[in-house]
Amino acid sequence: MSAPFCPTESTAPTASWWRRHAGKLALLFLGAIVASVAVSCASNVNRGFVLAPAIPGATYVGSESCEQCHESVTKHFASATHARLMARGANGSVDVGCESCHGPASVHVESGGASRTIVNPNRDPSSCFACHTHLRAQFALPNRHPVMEGRLRCSDCHESHRGDAMKAGGTALLSMNDACIECHKAQRGPHIFEHEAMREGCVTCHHPHGSVNQKLLTERNAILCLKCHFQQQSGPGRVVIGAIDHTSFLSRGTCWSAGCHEAVHGSQVSSSLRF
Ligand code: HEC
Ligand code: HEC
Ligand code: HEC
Ligand code: HEC
Ligand code: HEC
Ligand code: HEC
Ligand code: HEC
Repeated sequence: MSAPFCPTESTAPTASWWRRHAGKLALLFLGAIVASVAVSCASNVNRGFVLAPAIPGATYVGSESCEQCHESVTKHFASATHARLMARGANGSVDVGCESCHGPASVHVESGGASRTIVNPNRDPSSCFACHTHLRAQFALPNRHPVMEGRLRCSDCHESHRGDAMKAGGTALLSMNDACIECHKAQRGPHIFEHEAMREGCVTCHHPHGSVNQKLLTERNAILCLKCHFQQQSGPGRVVIGAIDHTSFLSRGTCWSAGCHEAVHGSQVSSSLRF
């Protein structure tokens, strides 16, 4: 947030500025600046490059003005991950706080809360991307949770107004699993033959936002499984996994598509998670 040269909506040089000045700058010098800005912006959660959606004509009014009408939301906001973005001081909470996600709110406040006068990230998550710039690309990958399509929302998995932004806590992976299972009931246990990997969380194998791999998998092949199930090399060209010789198996397909371990989430009939 604090990278001083990251362009923002208000300070980004305009096209005409560049036309007027670019010629004066030696190319090499320009390249160096661009490179260093890119590095310092990339290493920060920043507001550069992606414009947050905003209601036309509205200006920032500050988070305090929301309290009178939205007490239930503001009451717990101090405990929210994003409340840490609010700084003390005169201008500290003007364009951060409530309006960092909801956009400038003067029109909304003056109209007494008329409909469609304020940004709601449930309708348009681009206000999240204004800071979390890398996520726009994740939600455009060929395999993704259909958030941009409106079938799913950030708020199905993340909390905005109170507590940890990771629903039920960042370290409480089991609770995040619960969130997944609310929609994906087929993966819910209990299974007679559990796969212990499930205890590590769905995200050990699935990317929650988007992936180049089918089924949001974090790896497309046996590496997904070999991260935990070490392969022992016993003799030239022989591969042993879990004390069983897998040498000829691995060429047939992935561990889960070759007819061997199709019940990766757990099985009611097979201890080797076959079906
Ligand atoms: C004068 C009263 C008033 C003030 C001040 C006010 N709101 Fe609202 N707001 C409302 C009303 C009324 C609604 C519509 C009914 C509802 O959803 O509660 C609303 C709805 C909303 C919605 C949902 C809109 C939608 O289309 O989904 C958001 C988000 C919101 N307000 C945010 C804010 C924020 C942020 C502030 C402070 C900058 C703020 N409000 C200040 C009265 C107010
Ligand atoms: C991290 C982004 C973020 C911040 C910061 C944020 N909100 Fe929200 N807000 C959301 C999202 C996402 C939704 C829609 C999903 C939901 O209801 O949780 C929402 C919905 C709302 C709504 C309409 C639904 C409801 O619960 O009544 C109101 C009103 C609201 N926010 C007010 C506020 C106020 C007031 C603040 C500051 C104290 C604030 N928001 C800060 C992201 C944010
Ligand atoms: C004004 C910039 C800004 C906006 C807008 C914003 N975020 Fe964030 N968000 C941050 C920063 C900075 C952090 C890191 C906070 C910290 O770790 O103290 C963060 C943290 C998070 C985390 C927790 C990450 C972790 O590793 O624990 C989640 C989840 C998250 N944001 C989701 C959202 C969602 C969903 C929205 C839109 C509804 C949103 N953010 C809008 C700046 C923003
Ligand atoms: C299906 C549930 C789900 C949805 C929908 C979802 N997230 Fe996430 N998100 C997660 C999980 C789970 C993690 C933790 C990933 C991990 O621990 O590896 C995460 C991590 C994050 C992080 C921190 C890691 C990072 O890459 O910066 C941010 C920020 C975030 N999400 C923002 C968002 C935003 C913004 C949206 C909506 C556009 C969104 N998420 C939609 C489940 C979800
Ligand atoms: C609010 C409901 C909801 C939640 C919560 C949710 N998902 Fe999804 N998930 C969906 C939808 C909708 C799709 C898209 C299904 C489709 O296109 O047919 C999907 C797709 C998937 C797919 C790809 C399935 C396929 O056949 O290609 C995987 C894997 C997945 N989700 C895992 C998860 C994980 C892991 C979590 C928790 C971090 C989670 N989901 C949370 C609704 C949800
Ligand atoms: C050990 C790795 C692993 C873990 C942990 C895991 N999955 Fe999967 N998941 C897979 C693999 C591999 C596939 C692909 C199966 C296939 O294509 O037949 C898959 C497929 C899916 C699908 C698509 C369903 C289908 O029939 O194609 C959904 C939905 C899903 N997983 C949800 C979850 C949820 C929810 C969790 C956590 C409760 C979870 N997964 C945990 C490996 C895992
Ligand atoms: C997060 C770590 C982890 C990942 C990733 C993982 N597993 Fe496992 N798996 C375990 C643990 C722990 C056990 C139980 C102890 C054991 O048998 O090694 C287990 C047990 C198994 C078993 C039962 C062994 C037996 O006969 O009792 C099979 C089969 C299996 N895993 C297959 C897979 C497949 C296929 C994948 C990839 C889709 C995979 N595992 C990914 C951790 C993991």
